[in-house]
Amino acid sequence: MAETRAGAGRRTKLTVVGAGSVGTAVAYACLLRGSADVIALYDIQAAKVRAEVLDLNHGTQFAPACRIEGSDDLAVTAGSDLIVVTAGAKQHPDQSRLDLAAANVTLVRELIPHLLSASPGAVIVVVSNPVDVVTYAAIAATGITDGRIFGSGTVLDSGRLRYLVAARAGVAVENVHGFVVGEHGDSEVALWSGTTIGGVPVDSFRVDGRAVFGQQVRTELFEQVVRSAYEIIRGKGATNLAIGLSTARIVEAVLRDQRRVLAVSTLQTGRPGLEEVCLSLPTIVDAGGARTVLDVPMSDTEAAGLAASAATLRQVQTSLGL
Ligand code: 2OP
Repeated sequence: MAETRAGAGRRTKLTVVGAGSVGTAVAYACLLRGSADVIALYDIQAAKVRAEVLDLNHGTQFAPACRIEGSDDLAVTAGSDLIVVTAGAKQHPDQSRLDLAAANVTLVRELIPHLLSASPGAVIVVVSNPVDVVTYAAIAATGITDGRIFGSGTVLDSGRLRYLVAARAGVAVENVHGFVVGEHGDSEVALWSGTTIGGVPVDSFRVDGRAVFGQQVRTELFEQVVRSAYEIIRGKGATNLAIGLSTARIVEAVLRDQRRVLAVSTLQTGRPGLEEVCLSLPTIVDAGGARTVLDVPMSDTEAAGLAASAATLRQVQTSLGL
């Protein structure tokens, strides 16, 4: 069992880098869920980070005990057990996540060594998009390849799929299990072959004797997953609430050493055709980060989709000289 970085009884400190809509949603979700004892918000915009910290602190009476601090001085991040990086340019309605790659890779490559200087033992979770490429750049910039640096990946996409399947099946989302894997983006893959509803494989799931998830329904639901972010960004300018909640789930898996299986983005080494990219597969997340990727069964079609996703990511990496 991985040692708990936070140590029994020691106060756990989470730093969120970036006080934009995603960073503040992560901080807010973690406050409400009691994910950490201390939450530090760091952003170069002093007035913004001060305002967000004030606003969060004014709500602390209504949430589990938590000390919230923040600054435009990186020193506020010192001694973190876990650092969530949300800083960077955000996607506009006419942009894909991959369009943000050059700007956000540059930012994160410069920032992460300084963050690690102030918190040498911290686990780092990258959220900034394109999360797979930015995670790869962070690992390359630091040489930390042991799973201590990983990306939020397709935890959110898997949640979107589970929500849609649950609604279509008429059951609680907690009873739907399944993963979206690969790029957190347009080339992602739904592992329908492993998706179950109350233990029933999605292929066999019936209501009133009728199959619910035929090929057309599965195609329709997965297209909704892939289009989700674009639709939300068109409507409100950014997605933030669900990524905040899904990231809080990742935070707790690390700070509480939960060994939870999550579709996070890690540097792939074990699977042929996936080398030298970061992408998401079901992975055990604990106090040491994301170190054990499960050998999840998949159909030939799903495996081919995953390899294509890896190729897409590798192409972006090559274009950036990574
Ligand atoms: C999302 O999928 C934009 O990556 C963000 O909501």
